[in-house]
Amino acid sequence: MPSKRTRLDRLISAELKVNRGEVRLMLARQRITVNGVLATAANQVIEEFCHVTLDGKTLRAKTPRYLMLHKPKAVVSATSDDEHTTVVDLLRDKDGEGLHIVGRLDYNSTGLILLTNNGRWSRQLTAPESRVQKHYRVTLENPIQEEYVEAFKKGMYFAYEQITTKPANLRIIHSHLADVSLTEGRYHQIKRMFGYFQNPVSDLHRTAIGSLSLDPALAEGEYRNLTALEVSELTALSEGLSI
Ligand code: URA
Repeated sequence: MPSKRTRLDRLISAELKVNRGEVRLMLARQRITVNGVLATAANQVIEEFCHVTLDGKTLRAKTPRYLMLHKPKAVVSATSDDEHTTVVDLLRDKDGEGLHIVGRLDYNSTGLILLTNNGRWSRQLTAPESRVQKHYRVTLENPIQEEYVEAFKKGMYFAYEQITTKPANLRIIHSHLADVSLTEGRYHQIKRMFGYFQNPVSDLHRTAIGSLSLDPALAEGEYRNLTALEVSELTALSEGLSI
């Protein structure tokens, strides 16, 4: 996601088709506010969701949006695709406008997917150094062995990326069913980790991201807005804070 930050003079001159000198004049005449505060500096950094006014009229006000969606199988984690149904195709009318996906799930994986128009938020949640855990329920074709637990904890070498995976938690529920928690999101990571033991994954379902569990009231393909509390809890987690 490209950063949506810009300079105040750049924003005003683009919005009103005026030159930067005219913007400086507007500032000198105290005609511009940013988030309710009188603006004075032409180079003030304007974040994506700042509220900017000229003579009391809104020039820019964008509201951050956050959705959780229950992804079904056979849906691509993308905003557009020529062949397959995408996660964004599942959103009604204009609900998907301007939204992007926060971390992907494979075509046949199911469960919790987040969507937002806040690029900073999604980058924080999906950054390689993020410590936010993603939780999965995994069904395997063959019996799971106790030795997997240690191997997941130790990390596995992925030759393609030339990295060792970060410690992951594996909890065996019964012979073919386990819970896995990861902080990373490498390509096909869970399938590749079980693949190390030649044990194919038959079902993969994301149950939670950090403190946020998939709402059990959402059937496959359904979605809802996150509450303000859900957003702030996830934000705090991704920033490494405790609230
Ligand atoms: N790991 C996978 O292999 N697939 C997913 O969809 C998510 C994690």
